[in-house]
Amino acid sequence: MTGTLTPTASGLGDGLHVAIIMDGNGRWARRRGLPRTAGHRAGGKAVRRAVEAAPEIGITTLTLYAFSADNWQRPAAEVGALMQLFERHLRDETPRLHDNQVRLSVIGRRDRLPPRLVQEIGTAERATRSGRRLHLRIAVDYSARQAIAATAARLASVPASLAGFTRQLNRTVHSVPAAPDVDLLIRTSGEQRLSDFLLWECAYAELHFTRRLWPDFNGDDLAAAVADFRHRERRFGGVSPRLAAV
Ligand code: IPE
Ligand code: IPE
Ligand code: MG
Repeated sequence: MTGTLTPTASGLGDGLHVAIIMDGNGRWARRRGLPRTAGHRAGGKAVRRAVEAAPEIGITTLTLYAFSADNWQRPAAEVGALMQLFERHLRDETPRLHDNQVRLSVIGRRDRLPPRLVQEIGTAERATRSGRRLHLRIAVDYSARQAIAATAARLASVPASLAGFTRQLNRTVHSVPAAPDVDLLIRTSGEQRLSDFLLWECAYAELHFTRRLWPDFNGDDLAAAVADFRHRERRFGGVSPRLAAV
């Protein structure tokens, strides 16, 4: 493959792409003696806080990991509650997203989701299509490896540049518009792994791990992670200008 991986045009300016593995809802609930679903509900409020804080701190694409392809293995009652929560959140939050000029995409597979949720996703995506302040991507039934494999299968007979592959990968996961590479990947709850999230897009992402459980995460935590990111030196395989001068 040839070509460089330049950010894809989203019409949203050239701010940061921040991705978050929102982890720790279950532990948050357990510490309070509550059912896991109470943790997921509290996690929903943290999503709203992150979305509201993001544009103010220079984020133009925010990708949130809400449900992985492997999460289908969880107890049916938890999965069912999560699907209902997604549906309700989409319905309730869409007017606010539209008012705040946030464009929504739900990335991942759609063929295994409840039909009513798929319908709600389509409605929310259409209703927020004009948003130019923030591209919010919520990953539901998402697996980076499945997405990469499906994209490779589609392109099997066509020689693809890295940029062409990235464009097709965005189509595979229904990201409209296409998103640029991730600049900063955050994972909450103290875990330090990727859990099959954005493996292609995170090739040069800076990583930020925090012990904070997702339901406790707020706009200040997001701002602190971005402030820390702004002090990092990104070399992309090159040489630091500081060192090159020596
Ligand atoms: C993240 O929180 C939300 C989802 C994966 C849906 P968890 O539910 O994984 O919370 P922990 O890891 O059990 O605390
Ligand atoms: C990753 O969290 C998926 C989401 C946050 C949606 P998990 O809690 O499912 O990941 P593992 O099992 O700890 O790796
Ligand atoms: Mg977890």
